[in-house]
Amino acid sequence: MRGMAALMLAVTAGIGAAAQPPRTIWDSVYSDAQAGRGKKAYITHCASCHNEGLQGGDLAPALKGEEFLLRWNDKPLSEFFDRTQKTMPQDNPGGLSPQETADIIAYVLQVNKAPSGGGDLPSESAALGAVAMTKGQ
Ligand code: HEC
Repeated sequence: MRGMAALMLAVTAGIGAAAQPPRTIWDSVYSDAQAGRGKKAYITHCASCHNEGLQGGDLAPALKGEEFLLRWNDKPLSEFFDRTQKTMPQDNPGGLSPQETADIIAYVLQVNKAPSGGGDLPSESAALGAVAMTKGQ
């Protein structure tokens, strides 16, 4: 019996080690260069409503801060990407290229203090499904 239990443990541990650890926005998922491009695109296409500092205002909600992160907590980044790509800018929905949307999201992550460091955030929704938005590390 002891041997069986040990075997089960070893098997379970093996499965655990093989599984991909879940990645979140706190795992350096974008580059500084990308956030820099995103900032320019954000100023051009988004700031008129969401404001330059992403703090929101009369015309649109904030895209930074606790309330914002809480609203998206535990949702895949693909959902945020699709939402932005399909419904924003509100006065020209779908007007951005997937690349511009990914760049702007990198900038939104930067302003929300998620660390940079990896390569660029991919511009395909499917790839972004593997990254979760969470409100903290
Ligand atoms: C003409 C004004 C306007 C512009 C320009 C605009 N937005 Fe919005 N945005 C809104 C309004 C109003 C809402 C809230 C209503 C809604 O959810 O559609 C919103 C909501 C959002 C949301 C959902 C917020 C949340 O946490 O639920 C995101 C994300 C967003 N905008 C991103 C962007 C991005 C990125 C751009 C630039 C590409 C942009 N918006 C440009 C008006 C605007």
